[in-house]
This record gives sequence, structure tokens and C-alpha cells, in this order.
Amino acid sequence: MDSSKIAAILLLSSLFVAATADWSNLKVGFYGYTCPQAEIIVRKAVEKALYKNPGFAAALIRMHFHDCFVRGCDGSVLLDTVQGMPAAEKDSPINFPSLVGYEVIDDAKAMLEAACPKTVSCADVLAFAARDSALKAGYIWYDVPSGRRDGRVSLSSEVVLNLPPPFFSAAQLRDNFRAKGLSLDDMVTLSGAHSIGVSHCSSFAPRLSRFNATFDQDPTLDPGYAAFLKSRCPASGGDDPVVNNDVVTPAVLDNKYYVGLKDRKGLLTSDQTLFESELTRKMVVRNAKYGAVWGRKFAAAMVKMGGIEVLTGKQGEIRRNCRVVNY
Ligand code: HEM
Ligand SMILES: *[C@@H]1O[C@H](CO)[C@@H](O)[C@H](O)[C@H]1NC(C)=O
Repeated sequence: MDSSKIAAILLLSSLFVAATADWSNLKVGFYGYTCPQAEIIVRKAVEKALYKNPGFAAALIRMHFHDCFVRGCDGSVLLDTVQGMPAAEKDSPINFPSLVGYEVIDDAKAMLEAACPKTVSCADVLAFAARDSALKAGYIWYDVPSGRRDGRVSLSSEVVLNLPPPFFSAAQLRDNFRAKGLSLDDMVTLSGAHSIGVSHCSSFAPRLSRFNATFDQDPTLDPGYAAFLKSRCPASGGDDPVVNNDVVTPAVLDNKYYVGLKDRKGLLTSDQTLFESELTRKMVVRNAKYGAVWGRKFAAAMVKMGGIEVLTGKQGEIRRNCRVVNY
């Protein structure tokens, strides 16, 4: 093979990497000159929201994930559906009504527009808000590389194609995360976000009754825990209440989630599979044992996730209102 071919291959493979994890183009302190208060303003808005309702921490971390996995971290999850146009991401059944917290981003953005108009992207506001939530919920801190630009497209139909459903196996989750440039270990590490927040009964109901031809109930679900879940979830129809994701420390972002998996108390199939599968069991056991190591890995994986397919430079725009594209 001649050197020009090798150069072409190297160029192509670096382009491919750039397409998935573009965070080399982001920079910690991106707004240092243009809006030095940016990250402080976001933190204030998040702290105010969490003071009223600590559940927003989980909501904002999940929102960042849902933003990044669909069209990259471009704030597309924040856009409202425009009347007469196809539904936006937030109106996909995966996001509605379970994804909440948009008003926290609105509050932060309103303060930012007052302090430094048309400067800070909604995608960055969300990345900062998720980081501040991790600090509040788990004393996990990391610097957020910023400089993301906002996308102008948001399609409900793209959500189901990109976000993994709760019944995925470890191998399916691996493939889903790999398509976003994230490793198997990143996937297991980031699943630790389920150490906070809640899930609706509909997200795990198939595990509780008529599971499959052999078992009425998922055999990888602790029977006592299953009985508790049944007591909280109506057998059919009507209400769809929520239960805590983590049985041990439901409000703290920590590694106890992995301890729960070892006890067969993972709430979603996609949680429990991480312990049941040979692919990932060792990672679960390690995370359960070494909390501080997991915390550092979580921080690094959040930064990596925050770099998925970002728009930078002159791409996209800086939205004035996170719910609508600029006109
Ligand atoms: C590994 C694949 C994943 C699957 C299949 C999955 C699926 C789900 C589902 C079904 C819910 C509950 C929705 C509901 O019924 O209300 C949920 C909640 C949540 N997810 Fe995930 N998730 C995954 C990964 C992640 C990642 C990577 C993060 C963040 C880094 C994350 C953060 C959260 C949080 C914080 C909640 C609780 C939200 C709240 O209380 O408002 N998840 N997830
Ligand atoms: C039912 O689920 C269990 C546990 O996942 C599995 O081992 C078994 O093969 C399944 N049975 C059928 C008939 O699908």
C-alpha cells in the first residue's frame, strides 16, 4: 500500500472518530471571555430547582443523555414541536411524559440571555446542568468542555432509533453505545446514573407478570423485590406510577446501584442484564466494590458522552430560546 492510501485511510478514520466523539473541538472555559459568569449562572438555576425538587438532578442527567444520543449533544431534545410540523424529540413516547426539567433549562437560559445575549448555547447549558446535578446528587465533579452549538432539527421519529429501550440485553446495549463511540465500560459506568431517579411501572411491567412461556415472573428479579414492585404497580391499565430506580440509596448518585444488581434488584431488564451477562458482570462487581473509582469513571464517561457528534464553530446556531430555533 502506498503512503497516499495510508494517509487517506488515516484521514478517513479520524473523520469517523470526529463524527462520533467530537469533544476535541470543545474547550473547558469556552465562555471565559464572552460570558465569564455562564457556568455560575447555570449552577444557580440548577441549585434553585434542586432545592425545590431534588428529583430534577436525575431528570437533567437523563436529559443530557437523551440529547446526546439523538443527533449529538445539540440541544435538539429541548425544542418544542412546531404546530403543523412533525413531532419533536421531546414528544416521542420515550421522552413524554417521563422526561422532565425543561423549565430548569429555560430559567438558566433566561438569566444567560440577560447577562450575555446570544452567547451560550442551549446544548452547553444542558451539559453544565447535568454536571451540576451530578455534583449535588453525588459529589461527583468534572470540568465540562464547552463550545457546543445548537441544532435546528428535532424529530420524534429519530428517538426510538437511537436511544436503547429498557428491555435490551447487555450485547444490544454494547452495540447501541458503540454506535455513539462509547465503550462497553462507558456503557456500564453510565448506567450507574440509574442510582438516582425513578421509572414508571410501564418501563418494567413485563418483568412482573406473564414474563415468558416458562416463567410468570423474570427469574433474574429478586422475588421479594418483585412482590414490592407489584404492590406499587397496578396489574393493568390506568395509572402508571413511578418507583425509585435504586433500592439502596435512591437519592444519591453512587455505586450502590451496582450492589443492587448483585442482589437481583435491578429495576429494568437493561440494568439487571449487566450483572447476568458474562460480558459485563465483572465490571458490575468492580463498580460495586470500588465506589470512588466508579465516580471518577462516571465523570470521564459523562465528558465523553457530552462530546458525541457536537456542532462547533459556525455550525448550527446559538438559540435565544431553547424551545425554538432562531428565525
Ligand atoms: C443503558 C441504557 C439505558 C436505558 C435502556 C435506559 C432506560 C431508562 C428508562 C426506561 C428510564 C425510566 C423512564 C420512566 O419510566 O420514567 C430511565 C430513567 C433514567 N435514566 Fe436511563 N437508560 C439508560 C442509560 C442511561 C444513561 C447513560 C443515563 C445518564 C448518564 C441515564 C439516566 C437516567 C436517569 C437519571 C433516570 C431517572 C430519571 C428521572 O428520575 O427523572 N440512563 N432510563
Ligand atoms: C424465559 O426467560 C428465562 C430467563 O431469561 C430464560 O432462561 C428462558 O429460556 C426463557 N424461556 C423461554 C421459553 O423463552
